[in-house]
Amino acid sequence: MTDQQDPLSGYVCRLFAQEDEVLAGLRDEMARHDLPEIYISAEQGRLLQVLLTAVGARRVLELGTLGGYSAIWMARALPPGGQLVTVEMRPERAEIAREAFRRAGLEDVIEVRVGRALDVVQDLRSRREVFDAMFIDADKEGYGAYLDAALALVRPGGLILGDNALQHGAIVEEPAPTPSVQAMQEFNDRLAAEERLVSTILPIRDGLSISIVRKAE
Ligand SMILES: C[S@@+](CC[C@H](N)C(=O)[O-])C[C@H]1O[C@@H](n2cnc3c(N)ncnc32)[C@H](O)[C@@H]1O
Repeated sequence: MTDQQDPLSGYVCRLFAQEDEVLAGLRDEMARHDLPEIYISAEQGRLLQVLLTAVGARRVLELGTLGGYSAIWMARALPPGGQLVTVEMRPERAEIAREAFRRAGLEDVIEVRVGRALDVVQDLRSRREVFDAMFIDADKEGYGAYLDAALALVRPGGLILGDNALQHGAIVEEPAPTPSVQAMQEFNDRLAAEERLVSTILPIRDGLSISIVRKAE
């Protein structure tokens, strides 16, 4: 998905976020498989790259792979030897993503874990794994549990990113019209109150929450 319908987003994308054949081809491939258009925009992809570069990310965890579009953007921002672990519960989607990672030459950089995000993060926590950044983009009702996991898995100075923070505008509705919106309101409220984080929401596409894990004084 691109934001190029908006002339200013189009301008930003032309300068900073041009898709190559792999990314454009992946969008076609996802459409061919009737995958929903719920992946990030190219403009967001570039923003993720800037943020990952700013914190010197080498190891990234993504919850919610779909066809691998955001994973490719992020993996391309990692230094040699970097690694991205991405989690998808639907095996057929994971397979589309694996194929795209091969076409992108990133099969040694990106590891796809098929399973429920909650199970995978619990496994990672039990192994005391550490990540420089985590991009949360799976089921919205799980965001609270994923934030708990992120606070354990992401190192001080690292990044916790949450997509769909604005719920297409419904985030300001009281009472929340759906369980997803309610979960996102609770997630955003926690980000605002959490003293271990410095957070904000950028109103790019459906909203991206950006949190830095504070370093100890
Ligand atoms: C919004 S899409 C991810 C888009 C992707 N990050 C991108 O921008 O290219 C969300 C994906 O998360 C997967 N998903 C939803 N709930 C999940 C869960 N509990 N565990 C693992 N994957 C989940 C869905 O099957 C879907 O493919």
